Amino acid sequence: MLEHDVIIVGGGLAGCRAAVEIARTNPSLNVAVVAKTHPIRSHSVAAQGGIAATLKNVDSSDSWEAHAFDTVKGSDYLADQDAVEILTREAPDVVIDLEHMGVLFSRLSDGRIAQRAFGGHSHNRTCYAADKTGHAILHELVNNLRRYGVQIYQEWYVMRLILEDGQAKGVVMYRILDGRLEVVRAKAVMFATGGYGRVYNTTSNDYASTGDGLAMTALAGLPLEDMEFVQFHPTGLYPVGVLISEAVRGEGAYLINSDGERFMARYAPSRMELAPRDITSRAIAYEIRAGRGINPDGSAGGPFVHLDLRHLGKEKIMSRIPFCWEEAHRLVGVDAITEPIPVRPTIHYCMGGIPVNTNGQVRSSGENFVEGFFAAGETACVSVHGANRLGSNSLLECVVYGRRTGAAIAQYVQDRKFPTVDEQLYLRQAQQKLQSLLDQGGKYRINQVRQAFQDTMTEYCGVFRTEELMRQGWEKLQQLQQQYTEIYLDDKGSCWNTEILEALELENLIVVGQMILSSALNRQESRGAHFREDYPERDDVNFLKHTMAYYSPAGIDIQYRPVTITMFQPQERKY
Ligand code: FUM
Repeated sequence: MLEHDVIIVGGGLAGCRAAVEIARTNPSLNVAVVAKTHPIRSHSVAAQGGIAATLKNVDSSDSWEAHAFDTVKGSDYLADQDAVEILTREAPDVVIDLEHMGVLFSRLSDGRIAQRAFGGHSHNRTCYAADKTGHAILHELVNNLRRYGVQIYQEWYVMRLILEDGQAKGVVMYRILDGRLEVVRAKAVMFATGGYGRVYNTTSNDYASTGDGLAMTALAGLPLEDMEFVQFHPTGLYPVGVLISEAVRGEGAYLINSDGERFMARYAPSRMELAPRDITSRAIAYEIRAGRGINPDGSAGGPFVHLDLRHLGKEKIMSRIPFCWEEAHRLVGVDAITEPIPVRPTIHYCMGGIPVNTNGQVRSSGENFVEGFFAAGETACVSVHGANRLGSNSLLECVVYGRRTGAAIAQYVQDRKFPTVDEQLYLRQAQQKLQSLLDQGGKYRINQVRQAFQDTMTEYCGVFRTEELMRQGWEKLQQLQQQYTEIYLDDKGSCWNTEILEALELENLIVVGQMILSSALNRQESRGAHFREDYPERDDVNFLKHTMAYYSPAGIDIQYRPVTITMFQPQERKY
């Protein structure tokens, strides 16, 4: 059996930052990162616009308190304010630390790190590396993993969390190259497995964002928090859905409808295109619904609006947001220097996740914790984003809470013994699971069920939700879960069997979809990204609380835990 003091699942920003911290804190610890892609291909690499921190390089009147207020207001007051205080206070320090590791941020003319405007932030505080910020940070972190001797299992798929008697003891993992199974025991397990964009049919997320860590946690009987809060990024490139960064609007681009109008004046007059994402995405969806969307031939009534950059000029476009120009050019043939870009909302981010405290320790309920189990990054819910995340706060969360969780793990594993694990039992169970998938003589192809599932989630649990709609969606999910038991695989081999991987991922997607839908059904109010047309108002009396959803094959049990309010009392949210 393999063993490591610490096993971190996920090679993106949060996982890598935690690994570096553990190695820095105690170089004698044996730390491993396991990832289903090469770490440099983790979805963090696709983050574009930047990382927020009150460095005050552009705006000397900024402060961590202002950043905290913007974050809490952006969250529609659902964020836990103790966690937000840590996020915003530690932000400048983690950014400087990244710079010392070698991250190449864009610069002001005096050589300091440049900072730009971003949605919902009251000051220009988003540090960036053109529009490839995730790429710049992740490359340096992965280099640092090598420098600190962290072992990397790349292209291994973790199938199961080993959780016994309230303690995480390791994982079962599958090597994609040749189908080899391994049990790893560890003194601490950390999940940093990212989000679940692939639950929906149009997303800015990569193909690997299938919510594996979330589903494994739920299947182990642990709760998931606030899963109803699903972020639509306002500017997905139409029709493909990939991200056109908010940095484009941060640099001054306009959103325009079929009447040629900057319609954000109707929805957020003081912030216009730089309103938070929930408001901007809904505004675009309303415009499209009202017939003021645009068609590919330029006529009204179509499925997208325009993002107009032309007034920024070629020099600014090519120096500040060159990747967005390239995406539009390469994918839909639009030259953004001379033509507007077609955009519509696309699924981007998961505000909820595995509930953790501010040291990354996973909760088994509102008050209790799991021994040896930690999480950080998008897969976790510490809750700094509440009901709606501000752009450029997610890279920040990965780095601040990756670092804190790494430090907490280094402390936790000190003087601990390896847990006892029955390797053969777990190997047998994993082998049986794979074999039964291979042997299954079903009638559906994986892609058929996955597409129907993604379409169902998009139609029945999207930007606008009602009880009636979601109940219909729930019925459909039950049918799709049945169909999942009747899928068949053509590839029966063990060498690079991506079909078996897709089958495992689909099981996870369906679990995550059910958690989202049942959490959304139970929250009878509108808050942040969760918009109920049948309950259009925020209801602080009954719903200023976090959802804790517990999965079981018999059904999902919904409980709640209180929100931590320390600095800012809830107010009406206007922009
Ligand atoms: O629009 C963007 O560049 C995305 C940033 C973020 O999600 O934080």
